[in-house]
Amino acid sequence: MNQYLAIIGSLLGDEGKARIAHQLAPQYDWMVRWGGGANAGHTIYRDKKKYVHHLLPSIDWRHPKTNGFLSAGMAIDPQELVKELEQAQQDFPNIGSRLYLDPNATVVLPSHKQVDISTNTIGTTNKGIGPAYQDKYARKGARIVDFMSGASETARSIGDLKSLGVQFKHVYELLPKFHQESVLFEGAQGVLLDINHGTYPYVTCSDTTLSGIGQAGFSSLINKIRTIGISKAYLTRVGQGPFPTQLKDAEAENLRTLGDEFGSTTGRARDVGWLDLPALAYACDISAIQEVIISKMDVLNGFKTVKVCHAYEKPITSATSLFNAVTKYTELPGWKSSDDQNLWDFLSFVNNYLVEHTLMKTKVVAFSVGVEDKDLIWM
Ligand code: IMP
Ligand code: MG
Repeated sequence: MNQYLAIIGSLLGDEGKARIAHQLAPQYDWMVRWGGGANAGHTIYRDKKKYVHHLLPSIDWRHPKTNGFLSAGMAIDPQELVKELEQAQQDFPNIGSRLYLDPNATVVLPSHKQVDISTNTIGTTNKGIGPAYQDKYARKGARIVDFMSGASETARSIGDLKSLGVQFKHVYELLPKFHQESVLFEGAQGVLLDINHGTYPYVTCSDTTLSGIGQAGFSSLINKIRTIGISKAYLTRVGQGPFPTQLKDAEAENLRTLGDEFGSTTGRARDVGWLDLPALAYACDISAIQEVIISKMDVLNGFKTVKVCHAYEKPITSATSLFNAVTKYTELPGWKSSDDQNLWDFLSFVNNYLVEHTLMKTKVVAFSVGVEDKDLIWM
């Protein structure tokens, strides 16, 4: 793998980024989260067991080498981080000392979570993300550095993090290391949930695209980063907002059950639909995604046919085009397993579409048919 790699959610989050990042993590010295906070739900599998975490990077903690860095672009709930670390320490003692936190990161206060709950009109995760960023941009934000001492609940949690071995370092202090060592940037959410380029106002409040890595202080590395976008073989959305390829009723129920599509942060049933190629091409161009991995191909095993949206009636001009989009589909023969030629034909269809419709001639480079390492198949 390359010295610098970004794993980016190419659509609406929950693409299976963490499962792939976790598998690649042992090859990296650092794993960096650049935006968002505990709204993310990262599901990983270790020795056939499922783990969900929200703030910790998806490091494979069994490997002694990788460190984690939570950047200044994030909105961090210290109480939640303490909980997650304490839980993880039971399996992996001393991992706290492998976690670094940028003191300039925004803090999610208990009050932010209260406001999120009482003003939630778009189906947010209620993790206080919007209100915390709102304060940040109003220049009255709470930052980690403000709670390094004191008696507040938040200051006590920061004290707990210190006791757990967490180190507090600005990105600038670590940049020389980042320049010498290898870094995997782990995305959260997806390009269509981006604050600037997503389906506003049905978006999260952070930069979910490649440029969020720059915002986190890594601009000096941006042009060296290999960018891989993750997309499922179909599409899901949790929370409100436009979803042109959405399935309804029994068809939706079936796919949701097969894919186990229930939110890992909120437990909500995810809306499900077909893969949306115009939206994917848009995301690749907006976030400079060079390569795509198609995840959860096995979920569609046994479908007689599989649909893919290959065009909107009016060309996409921004994510706003997803509102009221009229979709056109190609129906492709289904497959039974990864040995089935139809599966490979589906992947070539997606690949050819992207090569033709993206500025960087984005390619499909791998797919997954399960959660074990062997189930990630490079093409
Ligand atoms: P917030 O990020 O909690 O403010 O929620 C804003 C929107 O983004 C809502 O529609 C959420 O469901 C969605 N969202 C936030 N985080 C994730 C995620 O990790 N996966 C999928 N959707 C997310
Ligand atoms: Mg998730």
